[in-house]
Amino acid sequence: MAKTGGTKLKILMCTSEAVPFAKTGGLADAVSSLSLALARLGHEVKIVMPRYYGINRDKLKRMEGALGVPMAGGEEWCSAYTTDLPSGPSVGPSNGSKKPVKVYFIEHEGFFGRDGIYGSPFEPDFLDNPRRFAFFCRSCFQLCRKIGWYPDILHAHDWPAALAPVFLRHGEKYGGYNESGETGSFATTASILTIHNLGYQGIYSKDAFFYTGLGWDVFYQAGFDDWNMMNLLKAGINSADKINTVSPSYARETLSQEGGFRLDGPLRYRSEDYTGILNGVDIEVWNPATDRYLPAPYSIKDLSGKVKAKKALQRRYGLPEASKVPLIGMICRLTEQKGVGELFGPSYGSAFSICLDMNLQFVFLGAGEAWAEHEIGSLSSRLSNFKAQIGYNEELSHLIEGGADFFLMPSRYEPCGLNQMYSLAYGTIPIVRNTGGLADTVQNYNQKTGEGTGFMFDYLSPNSIYDTVGWAVWAWYNRRKDIEAMRLRGMEQDFSWKKSALQYTELYRKAMGT
Ligand code: ADP
Ligand code: GLC
Repeated sequence: MAKTGGTKLKILMCTSEAVPFAKTGGLADAVSSLSLALARLGHEVKIVMPRYYGINRDKLKRMEGALGVPMAGGEEWCSAYTTDLPSGPSVGPSNGSKKPVKVYFIEHEGFFGRDGIYGSPFEPDFLDNPRRFAFFCRSCFQLCRKIGWYPDILHAHDWPAALAPVFLRHGEKYGGYNESGETGSFATTASILTIHNLGYQGIYSKDAFFYTGLGWDVFYQAGFDDWNMMNLLKAGINSADKINTVSPSYARETLSQEGGFRLDGPLRYRSEDYTGILNGVDIEVWNPATDRYLPAPYSIKDLSGKVKAKKALQRRYGLPEASKVPLIGMICRLTEQKGVGELFGPSYGSAFSICLDMNLQFVFLGAGEAWAEHEIGSLSSRLSNFKAQIGYNEELSHLIEGGADFFLMPSRYEPCGLNQMYSLAYGTIPIVRNTGGLADTVQNYNQKTGEGTGFMFDYLSPNSIYDTVGWAVWAWYNRRKDIEAMRLRGMEQDFSWKKSALQYTELYRKAMGT
């Protein structure tokens, strides 16, 4: 039975991504770092996720026996694998907890035995995603039964795991069985749903509701209905004990019609249970003093390694090694969320004019929508100071954070954003839109006092991006002292996961009513 009191909690993270196993974006970083930070506070944390084809089974331990997962139309059988979540040499769980974070992988050939997490280039959103993730969410409960471990907290992340709180509230909490035939194993388990991005909700045809194995009464009670479709995230919002998103500003924005992606109503309805908790930076991975991908380490006391990183980055992109010219970096998924329409859109958006009119260098790393990849490729062949690498490259992303002078994030919306925090830690000044987590982590430059940690703009348009980059470049050439002070101020910021993990612990306790 799950316990309801005590200081140390048993926490089960249900997620579709976690580094270093599967990642499409910041969700993967956030889940693993948060889990480690919670373990360091002494909590017992386990992660459960699918075993996609890309995850090498040879490095995992196969659990004995099979798991039977009740699904509509019968039981689905699967196996499970396990391993410890790697953590940096100096961080391992401490402060009382001797237990590493265990990761469990659910393996099912039919659902996960293919390339891609949510889709493939030919099928961007797999047709059977509602069935795949309904199966995954159900399997989380069966896994707990199998290992005889019942969490105090079931923590689900984003739409792929949103059915887990629904299954808990509308079934598992009140019945079910464990291996000894005991009922009510999850009776005291409380649930949290973290929304990392409201733009993705898992909206599918109602026909797929069948696979959840839930009755139509639950369809309406849990509020799955969405204009004659089925909305998984919406049902999760209605079912979880507490809901949060990944920054206080984004939490506020999502309560408005403009930022709510049509779920502002359900979120307002749950507003007493809805908060924003800022993500952190995993300093074992993102720390210029220890980063193995940089040519030389550096810190606030000695920035000479940053000069070397800039040179290495310029070489890597085939740009002249000009130390006096400001170098702008950008890394992102090429989607509308990231402001790429305004930056690279029709008539080359603002990037073309920026690179043509200003004495700067611009390096880009990312992948995503085909039109944007095409435009970026075309830009880099026309401009001598704009260079791009299309694709995913972990190592290069570290070099960009270290080697660039400025980091551009003109996001349309940004639930938290990790790169602006990495940039601050690396003495790379962010140029960002004043929204969501960007607003909560960057302070705008004040030309009169020299204060601030970055350059910000409110309204998203090609002109605002152009003007704000222009402002930063002007300051680079004309207010050099301010720029150097901003770099150092950024490096002094504390975005530790410990702070966030303490806030999550408080949220867990509220969810448990203790
Ligand atoms: P989102 O999750 O919305 O994509 P975040 O800023 O939270 O945005 O996180 C993105 C994460 O993915 C960061 O760690 C970033 O460095 C990484 N990333 C995105 N695109 C690439 C890429 N092409 N190569 C390497 N890392 C990338
Ligand atoms: C999402 C958001 C991003 C956030 C990340 C981790 O992908 O787009 O802003 O940082 O999740 O929470």
